[in-house]
Amino acid sequence: MPRPNPYEDAPRLAQEGPIDVRSLAQGEWVELEIGPGRGWFLVERAEVEPRAALVGFEVRRKWATIVDRRLASRGLGARARVFAEDAGMALPRLVADASVRRVFVHFPDPWWKKRHQKRLVVRDRFVEEVVRLLEPGGELFVQTDVEERADAYETLVSYEPRLVPSGDAPPSPRLAENPYGARSPRERRAITDGLPVHRLRWRRAVQG
Ligand SMILES: C[S@@+](CC[C@H](N)C(=O)[O-])C[C@H]1O[C@@H](n2cnc3c(N)ncnc32)[C@H](O)[C@@H]1O
Repeated sequence: MPRPNPYEDAPRLAQEGPIDVRSLAQGEWVELEIGPGRGWFLVERAEVEPRAALVGFEVRRKWATIVDRRLASRGLGARARVFAEDAGMALPRLVADASVRRVFVHFPDPWWKKRHQKRLVVRDRFVEEVVRLLEPGGELFVQTDVEERADAYETLVSYEPRLVPSGDAPPSPRLAENPYGARSPRERRAITDGLPVHRLRWRRAVQG
């Protein structure tokens, strides 16, 4: 007999139709994390910024379930959720436009082979959805320990005039530190291992 999947009941979005992102968690504004993995960023962010509604999309059912349960067990479940969803499918279903204050992407895209290119999270269609969802002045924050990836993200976003570089020394999007008071597991490990972390931030232009 096949063994039951322990993550069969992973939290999911409604199967069809548009999803009001503001209905997924309670808060004064919405912040999204794409691919939270083992998820400590969301816990720490919920603790440090109690006004934010936090929503994670994690394609792996196991980690979406574990992190969503962890948030609930810490009394953060109303304000912070993780859904077992592929961000590439979920983001286009989110409404309303201009309803998200921040999008965080920590250490995405550990794929190197050409045939895996289609798995990349940070790509042109993702940037397009982020532009649509961010409120004016809203932020896209991306970090990675792979320098070539950081360069590629910087080049990709440079073609999108509605995302304005917002690093330490404009017009560069590069930031030396993570200003959000919360760290992802991969970020913590990179720091412990002495690996450089490349951080980039852009703001949604007010016009356009
Ligand atoms: C390298 S891990 C980084 C995890 C975490 N962000 C961190 O910094 O510790 C990348 C994560 O993104 C998730 N992921 C990859 N593609 C995704 C997609 N299309 N939608 C949602 N999550 C995705 C993976 O399952 C994995 O948990």
